[in-house]
Amino acid sequence: MRRVQYHRYGGPEVMRLESVEPPLPGSGEVLVRVVAAAANAMDWKIRNGEMRLLTGRGFPRGMGNDFAGVVEAAGEGVTRLRAGDAVLGGTSIKGAGAFADLVIAEEKAVVRKPADLSYEQAATIPVVGITALQALRGKEKLGPGHSVFINGCLGGVGRAAAQIALTCGASVAGSCRTPAADEARGLGIAPLVGFGFDPAELEGRFDIVLDTAGTLPNKAARALLKPGGRIVDIVPAPLKLARSALPGPYQVLFGRTSTTDLDEVTRIAARGELRIPIAHTVPLTDAIPALTDLEHRPGRRGGKLLITTR
Ligand SMILES: NC(=O)c1ccc[n+]([C@@H]2O[C@H](COP(=O)([O-])OP(=O)(O)OC[C@H]3O[C@@H](n4cnc5c(N)ncnc54)[C@H](OP(=O)(O)O)[C@@H]3O)[C@@H](O)[C@H]2O)c1
Repeated sequence: MRRVQYHRYGGPEVMRLESVEPPLPGSGEVLVRVVAAAANAMDWKIRNGEMRLLTGRGFPRGMGNDFAGVVEAAGEGVTRLRAGDAVLGGTSIKGAGAFADLVIAEEKAVVRKPADLSYEQAATIPVVGITALQALRGKEKLGPGHSVFINGCLGGVGRAAAQIALTCGASVAGSCRTPAADEARGLGIAPLVGFGFDPAELEGRFDIVLDTAGTLPNKAARALLKPGGRIVDIVPAPLKLARSALPGPYQVLFGRTSTTDLDEVTRIAARGELRIPIAHTVPLTDAIPALTDLEHRPGRRGGKLLITTR
């Protein structure tokens, strides 16, 4: 089988498309024949070594988390899935390796793909869908009368959060680049502001402020909140983690593997209420230049990079 992998942490130059022996699923794992895989910023953060405390020193390491495909084999103890099932899911951070013909994943991180969701659409869902769902979940169930502000509302997580919040009946406002405002309005996001907005315009209006870009100053985020509201930041940094440990409205969120949550976002997507645009689709043989370009190109991407095997 072919797999995009690397033999040391580093920049895009360390990626190789290599032939490897197909792995065998261990206990609680499934082996999936990948149809489509989607790129996330975490793929290159892991490859750069930014998460090496979690990912360790074992090489070669595969790249890619999100995938959709067909179960090839199920390991011992797997009860929900079997060979032939169409599925979508994510790898473990330590395992990775979705940019490949075959990938190993834990059963708990994989769900059945509804027939009315294409493999391509399904592959875009896991990381952004689960993160968005978990960011919106609070003590009180999100619903009509609640309002959410999303900094970076047209990125993967931002767009997923906007669509999920709107599905729940909440109102959604957000920031995006000015030329993209019509697209955001089309999703039902209003009001819209540019990235350098003045928080005084929207003071005290939101139950949740979700910062998907990690760029919103804490003072600005607090200014946007209603009393009792909360700030969710998904781009961690040491100072932010320290702030998150203090009592108050600020929280750094790390998306967690959850079969139930992946099932829920998959159902929302299958109903057509969650769509992540696909900006670019390439075969596995062209994955490395496409990933390199994605990583280096600043500014709007307009959707996911998808890597297909067929
Ligand atoms: N903690 C977790 O569990 C978790 C999970 C998933 C992702 N993440 C992290 O969260 C971040 C977003 O992920 P993603 O998949 O949504 O990435 P993405 O698709 O690249 O979206 C990032 C968004 O931020 C916008 N943006 C860029 N500069 C901005 C600024 N100065 N102010 C406001 N918005 C700005 C981008 O706009 P343009 O497209 O117009 O540039 C884009 O809409 C990444 O750093 C990722 O690693 C964390």
